[in-house]
Amino acid sequence: PETITIQELANRMSERGVDVIKLLMKQGQMHKITDVIDADTAQLVAEELGHSVKRVAESDVEEGLFDTPGEDDHLVSRPPVVTIMGHVDHGKTSLLDAIRQANVVSGEAGGITQHIGAYQVVAPNGAPITFIDTPGHAAFTAMRARGAKVTDVVVLVVAADDGVMPQTIEAINHARAANVPIIVAINKIDKPDAKPERVRSELLQYEVQVESMGGETLEVEVSALKRTNLDKLLELIALQAELLDLKSNPDRPAEGTVIEARLDRGRGPVATVLVQRGTMRVGDIIVAGSQSGRVRALLDDKGANVTSAGPSFPVEVLGFAGAPDAGDRVAVVESEARAREITEYRERLKRDKAAARGAGAGRSLVEMMS
Ligand code: GTP
Ligand code: MG
Repeated sequence: PETITIQELANRMSERGVDVIKLLMKQGQMHKITDVIDADTAQLVAEELGHSVKRVAESDVEEGLFDTPGEDDHLVSRPPVVTIMGHVDHGKTSLLDAIRQANVVSGEAGGITQHIGAYQVVAPNGAPITFIDTPGHAAFTAMRARGAKVTDVVVLVVAADDGVMPQTIEAINHARAANVPIIVAINKIDKPDAKPERVRSELLQYEVQVESMGGETLEVEVSALKRTNLDKLLELIALQAELLDLKSNPDRPAEGTVIEARLDRGRGPVATVLVQRGTMRVGDIIVAGSQSGRVRALLDDKGANVTSAGPSFPVEVLGFAGAPDAGDRVAVVESEARAREITEYRERLKRDKAAARGAGAGRSLVEMMS
């Protein structure tokens, strides 16, 4: 049910809390300032005090922002988005670095490749693959908790000399919960004490049955250090992507997810955004969480300016008024007024939730117009 604390109600009307309490008392209700009242009571109180009331439902603001199924009739293939997970020190970062370097043309190798938290590489068959470079399990869980499904494939890195460890199991569970297929990369096979067979049979205990054990989970033995089988890994990812038949409509206003965001001294708020549907363009009006802005510039993972970014394309977005949060969903909206409406509503909702938590009750959806 819609509720509001007396304090918040008073704040919105710029009235004193004590006056609200007195008014309620006259109507036979005894309350403290931290008490929660329902929206109908709040409306009566507000009108009694000479305010006009506009009640806003969540659906008025959020509906149509993300879910507009009928619109997605023009679906075209999009690159897979891959997250690398695995136990501490099993070689996630080394593998990502090796993949990226193997893909950077030699002239660029010594140059400055900007770190934007996500990047695209090209598989041997020419298919682009997007890697998300924030493989922390906490980040993955946080994004899922916010309803952001960004990953299509999880590459599970297991060190051949160490085997299945607690965070390996955690990663398996994360991938399962998100219903994302796993590709097993048995890493460090260059090591003399590598036991890839042991890894395979250990994985069986967690119901991950790789192909060589008669299962369907794709697998590859790699060495990030010696750069062994990196192409094979990319091929498997491209193959898995084909099986998933990933599609998205590029011809619609962009939607995506904030992978990371920060306040840059020179450039202001900078957000790495993974575009998931539609195409984002310079000049677009965007909202993410309670932040909004107009896209001033888009940069790809090499730091080069681009004018647009389509599905599965990671870009740095300049132009937000403030830094959004990682995991926030991004949408392009039609006007600044609409952007303001959404962000103001979300700001208020955030405050209400905090207030209601303080008062131990549900959220409020009552807006006061003076
Ligand atoms: P965290 O981020 O701490 O969870 O670790 P990580 O999984 O990113 O592992 P990282 O890439 O930092 O590698 C851990 C150690 O393993 C480093 O000393 C790497 O040099 C080493 N290492 C990674 N891959 C290989 C490999 O293929 N062979 C060998 N011999 N060593 C490797
Ligand atoms: Mg690492």
